[in-house]
Amino acid sequence: MSTRFVTDRLRLRDFVASDIDFLARLLSHPQVMQHYPEPLDRDGAERWLQKTFMRYECDGHAFWLVELHDGTPIGQVGLLSQEVDGQIEPEIGYMLHADFWHQGYATEAALAVMAYAFDELQLPYVISLIRPVNQNSQRVALRLGMESRRTTQFAGLEHMVFQVDRRAL
Ligand SMILES: CC(C)(COP(=O)(O)OP(=O)(O)OC[C@H]1O[C@@H](n2cnc3c(N)ncnc32)[C@H](O)[C@@H]1OP(=O)(O)O)[C@@H](O)C(=O)NCCC(=O)NCCS
Repeated sequence: MSTRFVTDRLRLRDFVASDIDFLARLLSHPQVMQHYPEPLDRDGAERWLQKTFMRYECDGHAFWLVELHDGTPIGQVGLLSQEVDGQIEPEIGYMLHADFWHQGYATEAALAVMAYAFDELQLPYVISLIRPVNQNSQRVALRLGMESRRTTQFAGLEHMVFQVDRRAL
């Protein structure tokens, strides 16, 4: 399995087909999915995983599986090429199983992904698309040094566009 990043408490690695059971548990969880149109069933999780594999091929990055150093999977964090207002934008995305919230794991994983975006890919900025009601996610974005720049429609829903520029850090 291809490890991408190791942090103090976490490892981020490429998803593999056998991660489907964990992914299906994550994406069917009502609390985790409360700001998405709806929780996904197993077929939906399978489509999500296939899209992730496609993104690895096309973009070289996507969601990565986040696990504790003992191998326990806790969520997915990554860099996604998203079409926003007709332009392809680099988004840092994060989603943890609710059992692992409020321990700093999302911020820790997202910081590793942000360092990759700025130091290796030399991207000028990264964004996060966040629903106005999603306070937990906004706090992660603020801890990453992002600020809300504007709002937009994404996937048919209003989203705030948080952004941090490489030179701002
Ligand atoms: C968004 C999401 C990942 C945020 O998770 P989170 O647990 O709030 O964020 P972190 O893992 O960075 O944890 C930060 C919290 O842990 C606390 N914390 C506890 N121990 C810590 C430690 N050792 N180090 C750092 N922070 C720690 C921080 O003080 C902070 O507290 P707060 O929740 O009161 O702000 C989570 O809510 C989620 O998965 N939601 C569902 C999916 C989703 O909406 N994704 C975003 C779409 S835009």
